[in-house]
Parts: sequence; C-alpha cells; structure tokens
Amino acid sequence: MSKQFDVVVIGAGPGGYIAAIRAAQLGMSVACIDAWSNAKGGPAPGGTCTNVGCIPSKALLQSSEYYEHAGHHFADHGIEVKGLGLDLDKLISRKDTVVKQNNDGILFLFKKNKVTFFHGTGAFSGQVDGGWSIKVSGPAEEELVAKHVIVATGSSPRALPDLPFDEKQVLSNDGALAIGAVPKRLGVIGAGVIGLELGSVWRRLGSEVTILEAMPTFLPAADEQIAKEALKVLTKQGLKINLGVKISDVKSSAKNVTVKYTDAAGAEQSLVVDKLIVSIGRVPNTQGLNAEGVGLKLDERGFVVVDEDCRTGLPNVWAIGDVVRGPMLAHKAEEEGVAVAERIAGQHGHVNFNTIPSVIYTSPEISWVGQTEQALKTEGRAYKAGTFPFLANGRARALGDTTGMVKVIADAKTDEILGVHIIGPQASELISECVVAMEFRAASEDIARICHAHPSLSEAVKEAALAVDKRSLNF
Ligand code: FAD
Ligand code: NAI
Repeated sequence: MSKQFDVVVIGAGPGGYIAAIRAAQLGMSVACIDAWSNAKGGPAPGGTCTNVGCIPSKALLQSSEYYEHAGHHFADHGIEVKGLGLDLDKLISRKDTVVKQNNDGILFLFKKNKVTFFHGTGAFSGQVDGGWSIKVSGPAEEELVAKHVIVATGSSPRALPDLPFDEKQVLSNDGALAIGAVPKRLGVIGAGVIGLELGSVWRRLGSEVTILEAMPTFLPAADEQIAKEALKVLTKQGLKINLGVKISDVKSSAKNVTVKYTDAAGAEQSLVVDKLIVSIGRVPNTQGLNAEGVGLKLDERGFVVVDEDCRTGLPNVWAIGDVVRGPMLAHKAEEEGVAVAERIAGQHGHVNFNTIPSVIYTSPEISWVGQTEQALKTEGRAYKAGTFPFLANGRARALGDTTGMVKVIADAKTDEILGVHIIGPQASELISECVVAMEFRAASEDIARICHAHPSLSEAVKEAALAVDKRSLNF
C-alpha cells in the first residue's frame, strides 16, 4: 500500500528540508526523501551545504584562520605563542563533528515538525489518482503518493573533460575538505568562490597554492573596485592567482598532478602540484529522478525548467534551489523552499532576487547585495557612490584588521540604495543591514541617519552611506 502525503520533497538540502518544515508548519502532511549517507551508511540530511559545502568549509576556514592568527598575528597583540603545532586529524574530525551536529539537527527538526523522512533515492513513477507516485529506493524502499512534489535535488561538482575526480589527487569540494596531510604544492582550477575559500584554508595551513582561472578578470560578478582590492590582498597573503589561462592538459600520477596551460600572455606553462582542486562550477542533479519518463522538462544545461514561482511544466510539481536557475546559494534555495510551501498552501510566497546577498568567506570577507557600479554604468543609470575604508574605523583598528572598505551605491535622483559592496572584517554579517535597507527600499540617507553602536564595524556602513552625500565624518 503506498503512503499518501500532501507534499513529498525530493532532497533534504537547505532548499528541501526547509520546504518540508514550512509545508508541515502550514498543516500539510509531508515526506522528505534524501539519498545522502554518512560514513557509516546512515542518513545525512542537509545536502551539499551541510555535508560538503557551506558548513564544513566554514569550519575549516575558522580553524585555519585561528592557526594563521596564532602563527602570525597574536604577536602584534603581545601574545607569545611557543611550540605552535597543527593536528590536522583533529582539525578535520572537528569539522566532521560540526557536520554531524547539523545532520542530527535536521533529523530532530523533522521529528519536531512531523515530517516523515525516508533515507533513499526518490524517483517519479508516474501520475496516479490523487497526484504523483514516487518510488523510494535505497536504504528505505517505499511507494509514496503525493499531491504536490518539490524537486530539491541540488547540484554536484563539474569535472574537467576527461579528468574525473578521484578524490585522492584530483579533488572536488568533497575531497578538498578532507585532505589527510597538508600538501606542499596545491593547484586549484577556477578562482571562483570554492577556489578562493578552500585555497585560503590550505594556504593558511601551509600549502603553496596556485590558482588557474580562465577568465581574464578576477571575480567578474563582484564590484570592480572591490574585486581589485580582493585580488591585491589575497595575492599579498600568498595565493598565486593566474588569470586568463587556458588549460590544455592535466595528467595525474600516483605522486603528483601536472597541469599544462597557456597563460594570459600566450606562453605555454606547466604546473606540477601534489593535489589539484577542480572548482569550475556545478551541475544540477537530475539523474535518477526519471525526469524524462514523466516529461519533466530540463534546459540545455540540465536544470529543471521553472517559472519565476518555481513551477515546472507538470501539474503540482515544483523545483527549487541549485537544480533550477539562479545563484547556487543555500539561502536562495531556502527562500524558494519557503515560498513554494506557502504557494502550495494558497499563500503568496515571494522571493526577491534583487536582494539575495553574496558572501565569499575569505579573509577579509567579501559581500555584496544589489547592483555593481559597472552594471549601473552599462545600464546607463545615474548613481552616486560613497566608500569608507576600515582603516578609519576605530573598532577595526582595535581588532587589528583594517583591510578593505564599504561602498554604498544609490540612485542619483532618488537616493534609493541600489547596491552595497563590502570587503573587510565581518563583511558577511555587515551585509545583512544593507539587505534589510534594500528590502525596505531605503535611501542612503536612511542608513546615514540611523544610530549605529560605537565602536562597531557597522559604523563603516553608516559612514559609507554618509559618503554618498560627501559628508562622512571620520574620513
Ligand atoms: P543540495 O544542498 O545539493 O541538496 C540536495 C540533496 O538532494 C542532497 O542531499 C542529495 O543527495 C539529494 N538528492 C539528489 N537527488 C536525489 C534523489 N533523486 N532522491 C533523493 N535525494 C536526492 N552556499 C551558501 O549560500 N553559502 C556558503 O557559504 C556556501 N558554501 C559552499 C561551499 C562549498 C564547498 C560548496 C560546494 C557549496 C557551497 N554553497 C554555499 C552552495 C550551497 O551548498 C548550495 O547552494 C546549496 O546546498 C543548494 O541547496 P539545495 O537544497 O538546492 O541542494
Ligand atoms: P564558481 O562559478 O564560483 O567559479 C568557477 C570558476 O571557475 C569561475 O571563475 C570560472 O571562470 C572558472 N572556470 C570555469 N571553467 C574553467 C576552466 N576550464 N579553467 C579554468 N577556470 C575555469 O564555481 P565554484 O567555485 O565551483 O562554486 C560552485 C558554486 O558553489 C558557486 O556557484 C557558488 O555559488 C557556490 N558556493 C558558494 C559559496 C559561498 O556562498 N560562500 C562558497 C562556495 C561555493
């Protein structure tokens, strides 16, 4: 006998598990199916984000930053560290514990919200009376019937042609989060978010890191001024970033990996490294869903085709997160999950794509929301911009981290904030105020008139807003 649910969610990443919880909160009977297994074969809900993405990468970023501070910056504070050592096994197992806490947290939340969880792979069997028949296979074997289906199957790392990940020498994000010994020479292909974050982790732990990037510009999605500053700072820290390269050949042996490439000047180059991280973007997960069998439409790149409300072409079948268009970010997946659950319940769920923040957790952190200066120039929209350096912020001086700046961009006529770009300490936290301001369609003057605690890094946001009107007080 198949089990009946109002909503079946396929995938328990940040998109899927949040959609399941929200649907359950709204009074629906909900099941969530997830295939991810931990090392012992047990369920590990949370998807890429929890298992091999956001959470473990931030755990390693934190540990490696402490190590770098202890080795290089504590002395500035008069703190002497003698006999500093690295227990990599412990550092990695701490990361694994953090992941497990998050997996367990999601299982607890499912219980609390009465979401029925199935550990296995979900696939469409077909349309039946009362909705869609979904087959679960793997550890759990079930036949479910759902009035509504939410596809939240996420994404997987993209490999270079003819260079599959072996996770020993040629690493995806998965292997790059679990290297057993600090490699002397580490190569990274792709200077995107993963390349910069994980490249930073291993550089801090002692690797010589060389990043090869195909694009001639660094972080083209970021504001040019911020990207330029980021390139300067990260290079100074020791990341070797080569832009505009063309990879011609990669050979992996038991000992090392040799990457042949043409550099920006057109010269043939060869890089020999102990390990190679390939972080050149991700591909949507749709294999095993039986998408073709039920006519679930995919685009030419394999993403599930959806409208702006995450509706697929099939009745009562929705798709969210990395498996559909838009930025591959956990908080974007979550927002879509909430909105879809609310739409199924007859409410007016909404996602504002203009105010989805981006963060790169390097040190300094880089964050932004809204439009860049270069995009506004291309659009021909008149704007004013104000910047404020952390060098002039008292809290940043006290912290001993004065790198970077805040930049606020506002409409030239109305003063509405169009974008905020930050490189500096705690940029990931500082951007939230700017997202709130943009959601309320605030003017730069609104931020400038708000009382910010002193001394705090957030005063740099206020000062940048004041600078839009050329009246910053501390610079
Ligand atoms: P996923 O998290 O990929 O989850 C999909 C789940 O569905 C998986 O558990 C998968 O096993 C399961 N699944 C797939 N097919 C089936 C099936 N047929 N049946 C059952 N289960 C199935 N984003 C941020 O916002 N901030 C960050 O700091 C950040 N850091 C990252 C660091 C790294 C190294 C990586 C790789 C990614 C990072 N991301 C970050 C991106 C973020 O992880 C993704 O955007 C997010 O996980 C997408 O969520 P999702 O729910 O769409 O899919
Ligand atoms: P990415 O899209 O951020 O960067 C990939 C980079 O590889 C690009 O700069 C691209 O030009 C380059 N590239 C592509 N093909 C290449 C080739 N053949 N040779 C050399 N360079 C090549 O993708 P990444 O870093 O793999 O991350 C995947 C996704 O995960 C991102 O979309 C991001 O949204 C998400 N993520 C988010 C994080 C965050 O929010 N802090 C952290 C890590 C990942």
